Amino acid sequence: MTGGSRMLTLGVETSCDETAVAVLEDGFTVRSNLIAAQEHLHERFGGVVPEVAARAHVEALNPLLEQALTEAGARFSDLGTVACTVGPGLVGALLVGMAAAKTVALATGARFVGVNHLEGHIWANFLAHGPPEPPYVCLVVSGGHTMLVHMPEVHRYELLGQTLDDAAGEAFDKVARLLGLGFPGGPALDRLAREGDPAAVRFPRSMADSGDLDFSMSGLKTAVLRHVKQEQAAGRAIPAADLAASFQEAIVDVQVTKTIEAARRTGVERVLMGGGVVANTRLRERLVTDGASAGFEVLVPPLSLCTDNAAMVACLGAARLERGDRSGLDIAADPNLPLAL
Ligand code: KG4
Ligand code: ZN
Repeated sequence: MTGGSRMLTLGVETSCDETAVAVLEDGFTVRSNLIAAQEHLHERFGGVVPEVAARAHVEALNPLLEQALTEAGARFSDLGTVACTVGPGLVGALLVGMAAAKTVALATGARFVGVNHLEGHIWANFLAHGPPEPPYVCLVVSGGHTMLVHMPEVHRYELLGQTLDDAAGEAFDKVARLLGLGFPGGPALDRLAREGDPAAVRFPRSMADSGDLDFSMSGLKTAVLRHVKQEQAAGRAIPAADLAASFQEAIVDVQVTKTIEAARRTGVERVLMGGGVVANTRLRERLVTDGASAGFEVLVPPLSLCTDNAAMVACLGAARLERGDRSGLDIAADPNLPLAL
């Protein structure tokens, strides 16, 4: 089997510590979606080391490209479009994926389109649930970003609020580290929290009543640290599951409240979630149920499309190209590329 009349889109994603390649047919049907994770390389440093990430992308990318095409039953000559993340992200990591993607486009004559990683996280929803029907409010929560955006029409985004300090994923990772859960800590903290009591410790709901749609994580992080020190000083054992569940509840509470408030203010009926932290069990549960009680339909991508992947990049790239957004091969990586311009 081959791709036929060049309807295949190759997606390449290397913005952080996941090397990812996907092949999509007609922009929405996933033929292959592969990820080479590097967590084991960064674990001992307690965070992603940019230079280590870039080198690992170099090693992983070519074999992954070959494998993605093989699994898709396709050849390079079947590719009509090559889509690649150009930002935001680690510049050295982005450059590795971009160099490979541009080379494939140049060698095969496929059209090249550079895409925004954060918009990719939003498009994971459309890949899973079908083409967009705006308007939406989107909660984007990842390792590097926490923001609420209004999407009044396709490819248009208005920033409603964002974190003033740490991203939600960063807060999960830092508290997980404090609890000795390794890196990245979000998934481990999520698992541990399932066995804990979310009401065990009442941590502050930072900025819940600020009247705007911004977030802050630093107060919560400090409160968790202070609590751990107090308990240790008093010689009490810290029930890690309760602590994890209580921290998670505080962070989820604020995100759910503000997202529903954003939907009310903008008058939309549908809410989307995107980014690695959307893999969080409690956040998914709470936003879907609380959103429904408040009269909103909440769409959530499947777990495999929440964290970084190239299928979302290919889906977005195909849609962007359809409306004429082709990029030149001289397009530069932009580590701080904003979603809403
Ligand atoms: O979107 P993503 O894969 O990469 C970035 O673009 O940053 O997000 C990664 C972040 C990490 O901080 C990770 O700990 C967090 O998402 N994360 C989670 C869960 N799964 C991933 N946080 C909480 N609960 C989870 N289940
Ligand atoms: Zn991401």
